[in-house]
Amino acid sequence: MSAPPTCPTPPAAVAFSGVSMAFAALGRVFLCLDEDFRILHSSELLDRLVAPGAADSLAGELVENVLGAELFGAGGALRATLLAGERREGWRATLRVEHGRPRLVSVTAAPFPRDPSGICDPRVHYIVVLRPAEEEGTDAAVTLFDGLVARSESMLRLFRLVQTLEQSEVTVLVTGESGTGKERLAQALHNHSPRHAGPFVAVNCGALPGDLLESELFGHVRGAFTGAVRDRVGRFELAAGGTLFLDEVGDLPLPLQVKLLRVLQERRFERVGESVSRAADARVIAATNLDLARAVREGRFREDLFYRLRVVPIHVAPLRERREDIEPLASHLLARVAARRGRALRLSPDALRCMIDAPWRGNVRELENALEYAVAVCRGQTILPEDLPAEICAGAVEAHWRPHVVNDSEPAARPLPAADGAAAAELRAILEAHRWHREEAAREMGISRSTLWRRMREAGLIH
Ligand SMILES: Nc1ncnc2c1ncn2[C@@H]1O[C@H](COP(=O)(O)OP(=O)(O)OP(=O)(O)O)[C@@H](O)[C@H]1O
Ligand SMILES: [Mg+2]
Repeated sequence: MSAPPTCPTPPAAVAFSGVSMAFAALGRVFLCLDEDFRILHSSELLDRLVAPGAADSLAGELVENVLGAELFGAGGALRATLLAGERREGWRATLRVEHGRPRLVSVTAAPFPRDPSGICDPRVHYIVVLRPAEEEGTDAAVTLFDGLVARSESMLRLFRLVQTLEQSEVTVLVTGESGTGKERLAQALHNHSPRHAGPFVAVNCGALPGDLLESELFGHVRGAFTGAVRDRVGRFELAAGGTLFLDEVGDLPLPLQVKLLRVLQERRFERVGESVSRAADARVIAATNLDLARAVREGRFREDLFYRLRVVPIHVAPLRERREDIEPLASHLLARVAARRGRALRLSPDALRCMIDAPWRGNVRELENALEYAVAVCRGQTILPEDLPAEICAGAVEAHWRPHVVNDSEPAARPLPAADGAAAAELRAILEAHRWHREEAAREMGISRSTLWRRMREAGLIH
């Protein structure tokens, strides 16, 4: 008796289930995406990792709904790199599948080449491989936490601290240089607090003179001072039920420091020109780029207020002390900046190297601005070192720069092609005439510092 006829399984399904089994044996989940970033196939290992039926439930779902819009939504870092034809490894995301608990996973994503054999599903444009994050050990994956990107242990520790404080309303003082992300961190603290549904209200204490700042913070009643034509609600009241972010708190004038201390101690305040005392129901997070301990020593900041504010002190390290964050930050911010201009751009390895070595005195904000600049001047699809602001590459050259010492133990990094030898010799002569002062040399040659830098590299004068 012959077996009943069965529907032959299409070759694409066979291919997928074979690959999927192989990845499952390695403990990895495998997803195939179409060109619109919808999930076409997902491997059954998901059922074991997340919830039974999870793999089937994802068919047709946008991957951004499963792994987050920050990575895969319009302007997401991984989406942009995939569109630019590149692979990325070791990003972290939270995998969310209906009825399953969220799982932290490490994500690798790559464009899928056209398959000439016709065995693979022709709709597949991208593949994504997921690995449970707890398997990772200590290798440094990129973490995306509430819009903040980091790979460095110092930042990951801050993310963990924010999670630890999730049930707390404690007053926090965030310190760090300008542009390190203090305000973003304060926002993350608010978003992960019992007050997350309430408002996040920011006041820049350095932006207004004392009396205006007082009414900005506490409000005023009509007639309290010239120009007070009607009652005004202050930021403390506006932040009720939420968080008041006191930015540049080190600039708070001394009389206001006294008032703020009272509010923090008694949880009550008065509007300017009014004697009625009102309850203050805002959690306070403050930030400063000043050395407040020193300001205390110099009598510019009250010691009692200092300790009231820094119940939990959080220091955000400057970018140059956590250079491992630069690459993921650059990818993430480039994706965002480029998407705003409808472009998909990548960084050349040299441009990335420049960025990793740059001094970044303006920290992440400067990095963001450098990418804005690069996107504006870059003509092609790849950002080259000369597309970056001159000071970025100049700083990087500073770090790496080494004129060729002609001795036997240090061979030239790159032998010069014979035809370029004359140009290189001339370049070296000019540099030597200026004692290797690149700015002066560039001026004499009538070229920009970044062009000089490029020529020095081409000539093998720097590594
Ligand atoms: N880890 C990060 N991931 C992504 N973006 C970041 C990160 N850190 C900072 N940024 C971005 O850098 C910029 C500067 O951040 P922010 O305004 O929070 O810095 P700041 O420390 O408050 O600076 P300032 O002292 O100058 O006010 C913002 O656009 C922010 O989104
Ligand atoms: Mg700020």
